[in-house]
Parts: sequence; C-alpha cells; structure tokens
Amino acid sequence: MNRNNSFTSEVRVVLVGIGYIGSEIAKLLLRKKGVKIVGAVDPSPEKFGKDLGDVIGAGEKIGVLVQKDINDLNVNADIAIHATTSFLNEAYPQIVELIKHSFNVISTCEELSYPYIVNENIAKAIDELAKKYKVTVLGSGINPGFLMDTLVITLTGVCQEIRRIVVERIVDASKRRPSFQRKIGVGLSVKEFNEKVSKGEIVGHVGLKQSIAMVADSIGIKLSRIVEEPIKPVIAEEKIESGFTIVKPGFVAGVTQKAHGLLNEQQFITLIFKAYAGAAWECDLIYIDGVPTINERITPCIHGDIGTAAIIVNLIPRVISASPGLKTMKDIQALSAVLGDMRLLIGRKPS
Ligand SMILES: NC(=O)c1ccc[n+]([C@@H]2O[C@H](COP(=O)([O-])OP(=O)(O)OC[C@H]3O[C@@H](n4cnc5c(N)ncnc54)[C@H](OP(=O)(O)O)[C@@H]3O)[C@@H](O)[C@H]2O)c1
Repeated sequence: MNRNNSFTSEVRVVLVGIGYIGSEIAKLLLRKKGVKIVGAVDPSPEKFGKDLGDVIGAGEKIGVLVQKDINDLNVNADIAIHATTSFLNEAYPQIVELIKHSFNVISTCEELSYPYIVNENIAKAIDELAKKYKVTVLGSGINPGFLMDTLVITLTGVCQEIRRIVVERIVDASKRRPSFQRKIGVGLSVKEFNEKVSKGEIVGHVGLKQSIAMVADSIGIKLSRIVEEPIKPVIAEEKIESGFTIVKPGFVAGVTQKAHGLLNEQQFITLIFKAYAGAAWECDLIYIDGVPTINERITPCIHGDIGTAAIIVNLIPRVISASPGLKTMKDIQALSAVLGDMRLLIGRKPS
C-alpha cells in the first residue's frame, strides 16, 4: 500500500442511520484515534435535531446534530457509514445521494454485499456513479461480509482442491437484543410465524445467497444456480426465558435457514443459519472437503453486533485506499483490526 497519504487531519466520517448498529459504530469510532464523526442522519422524529451523543447514549454531547435527510448534510467527509436497510432497492437512492456528496461509502445493507445477484442494473449504476465521483462503495458486516464469505474465501487460499464447502452458524437468540429476537419470531405461535413469513414481515437472515455467490466467484467456480430453502421455525420443546419474552413449549424459539450453491446440479456450497432462544451450543463452523480438508470451529460464535461494528470501522482505511467503484469484500485488501491511528493505514486511492 502507498502510505504517502494526505491525511494530516482526522478521517472525517458521516453516519447515516443511527439505529442499533449505527449507534454501536458511533461509540466505537469515538474510541478510535485519527478519526472524527462530522455528520449524522436519521429521519426518526425522536433522533433528528438532537446531538448525536444524546441519541447514542454516549453520556456527553459530541457537537454533531442529527439531520433528517442526507441532503441536509453540509459537511465535507471522507466516508459515510450507511446502516439503514437490508434491501438494495431501498438502499440504492440513499447510496446515490452519498456518492453525489463525494463520500466513500461502507454500508451494512446485506444485499449490497453482493448486489449483482439482486439487481445487476443497480449494481452497474452504483459502480459507474462511484467511478465518476472517484469514490469506493462497499457492502459488509459480520454476515454477510465475513463469517460465511470472507473468512471462507481466506481459508480456501491454502487448498489445492475443493470438493464441497459447508458453513454453519448457530446463535443463541436469548443473548441477543429484542429487535433481533422480534426479527426471527421468538415467542410467536407457529401460525403467527407462518403468517408473518408469508406477509414478508419475517425474513430471517438476509445474505445467504450473497455469501454463496461471493465465495463461488472468488474461487472461480460457475454455479448452475443458488437455491434458498424456505425459512423454518425452530419449535421450543420446553419453556424458554429469552430475556425478551417467554417462549412456551410448542411455540417458536427462532429460525433455521439453508441455502445451496449447485455445481453441475450437485450441492457444492451449503450455508446453514440457525438462530433461536436456548441454543445450547453457539458456534461458527466451516468445513471444506478438499486437499487439505479444513475443519474450522469458532465457539462461541462471534457476536453479530460487536463483530459488525468492528468490521465496519476496521474497513474504513481499506475502503478509503481502494480504487473507485463498487467493491465486494473479495476485492478489498486483507482485513485486520485497527488499533493505532487510522490515518497511518490509509494509502493514496489508485485511479
Ligand atoms: N451485514 C451484516 O452483517 C449486518 C449486521 C448488522 C445489521 N445489518 C443490517 O444493517 C441495517 C441496520 O441495522 P440496525 O440493527 O441498526 O437497524 P435499525 O435499528 O432498524 O436502524 C436503522 C436506522 O436507520 C434509520 N433510517 C431509515 N431510513 C433512513 C434514511 N433514509 N436515512 C437515514 N437513516 C434512515 C431508521 O430510522 P426509522 O426507525 O425511523 O426507520 C433507523 O433509525 C439492517 O438492515 C440490518 O439488517 C447487517
């Protein structure tokens, strides 16, 4: 990396979406060296017009007023951290505005982590606009963004042959925040769960298809197709105290989801996501059947919210240093924690 950078002043960051994740990212940024929050946006009536410090519960004023709309921002910044939605069609107009402000963008939007399989036209439009404004746009997070794709891709780097990849994540939802538990239907009856699934109110984890496509493209495999099985409820066998609600036996404790990348119509990549209250064994498992065979086990599983705030902040110097355009994690320089002054890790953006 070219370390002859122009960052004599701090890296200037704008936060768009001050929900749970945006707040966690803000709190982490406040503890980092060489970086400064200079703007914030969130349309919630209880947030805009207030000092960011009050909105995130920092215990002190930060001197940044939360704006209602991206267009109300009147600051120069190096990068925007975007955390508002999981879906590309909702994120797209917001990303366009951020690019037009000449901000590099890191977004937690799951579908943006590999948008080509969602809407190729939108992906192409973001790429072209980012190149025009000489900025970089990346979708990332713990998952998609790391556990089921970047980490898997890295492990395949020592394989001569690969016959099959299976990744499984098991999360105890009772250790997670209420909004996460609500998102996966904890405490509902099976009938209520099925109704919410058919109305699109419960979608569970978004990103299995994105992770599969990223891994396949990275290792140079042309999948025949990606198949996602319908989301299924995990039913409680006994009463579970989830910290958010009490799950009665026979009621929904959470979800299980599975997706497969088919090579010549055979399962080549399988991703399994289970999140339910009372999961006895939390883990992230990566099994690569190949030469050599790899069995990677992380237990307990990496905490999603902590890991997401970390990876987004750690990506800041990498994204600022990357060439312009729409990137995915497989295009970004190898990841690490950023413990020292962030400015020291930033290189000049190649054109
Ligand atoms: N890739 C990953 O690993 C990963 C990890 C964690 C989270 N995520 C995703 O990241 C997103 C944010 O997560 P979260 O838990 O923080 O969600 P959240 O608590 O719902 O926060 C989203 C915030 O963004 C605000 N918002 C909506 N539209 C906006 C706009 N146009 N401009 C600015 N702010 C806007 C929302 O306001 P209102 O409440 O008024 O709508 C809300 O305050 C979610 O979609 C989540 O699934 C991804």
